[in-house]
Amino acid sequence: MNSRADTGQPQTVTGDTPIVEIRNVIKDFGGVRATDNLSLAITPGELHCMIGPNGAGKSTFFKLLMGTIRPSSGTIHFNGEDITRLAPFARARRGLGIKFQNMQVYQELTVFQNFFVPMRRHHKPAEMPELVDRILRRIHLTGLEDETVKNLSHGQQQWLSIGMSIALEPKVLLLDEPAAGMGPEETASTAEIIKALNAEGMTIIVIEHDMEFIRSLNSRTSVLHLGALFAQGSYEDIERNEDVHKIYLGKA
Ligand SMILES: Nc1ncnc2c1ncn2[C@@H]1O[C@H](COP(=O)(O)OP(=O)(O)OP(=O)(O)O)[C@@H](O)[C@H]1O
Ligand SMILES: [Mg+2]
Repeated sequence: MNSRADTGQPQTVTGDTPIVEIRNVIKDFGGVRATDNLSLAITPGELHCMIGPNGAGKSTFFKLLMGTIRPSSGTIHFNGEDITRLAPFARARRGLGIKFQNMQVYQELTVFQNFFVPMRRHHKPAEMPELVDRILRRIHLTGLEDETVKNLSHGQQQWLSIGMSIALEPKVLLLDEPAAGMGPEETASTAEIIKALNAEGMTIIVIEHDMEFIRSLNSRTSVLHLGALFAQGSYEDIERNEDVHKIYLGKA
């Protein structure tokens, strides 16, 4: 246990306090060590990219942050508070939002109806059209509120799932492979959507495999490998790092 966790007191939040911090987190699934003493800190307002080969532990990192799985050991802090043992809903209430890998939206419902379900507990019905409209503008779906989701393109459905994740205005947004399966134009629009949300002040962590996309986000990047932090730096640093190239080729 570290000193902050030991006190059990709310921590003073300063400009230097990471908004998200995991320390020495190990997560074992039976014989598989998905994260191996992983430590990582995210600065408030940051756009942070995360890459790494298949099975590196990237999605596990997000699930640990959201609380859908618990660490075998180590701690998770949000805004200086130890949330290691908090339930997922309590973390969401503090301002963590996620778009999971393969997140589902309701195909047979309209765009508006998809928002109505999660938002109705937090907003009056009369407020909903304006709130949904504001979200749709931010995810490039303006005017599509009455469209049935199954009629949207793959990219538009992905943006809708980003919209679902920002419906409750999270402080930190976690996006797991938001550009998966998209062509170049949709991928470029996805990068624009993410950069604009970040410019509003939202802290965003993006997991992706598409290096063109990571390049266009051009922000601090962490490389995970075998459940641990393998490298960290600007996009350019990572691009130039030969060891990073090697792990993708399976030679490290
Ligand atoms: N629920 C689970 N039960 C057992 N093993 C799991 C579970 N979830 C993840 N793993 C294992 O943990 C490791 C990390 O998985 P994770 O999904 O975090 O990888 P990833 O970096 O997101 O990979 P990808 O790029 O393929 O999405 C893998 O070896 C995976 O098989
Ligand atoms: Mg994954």
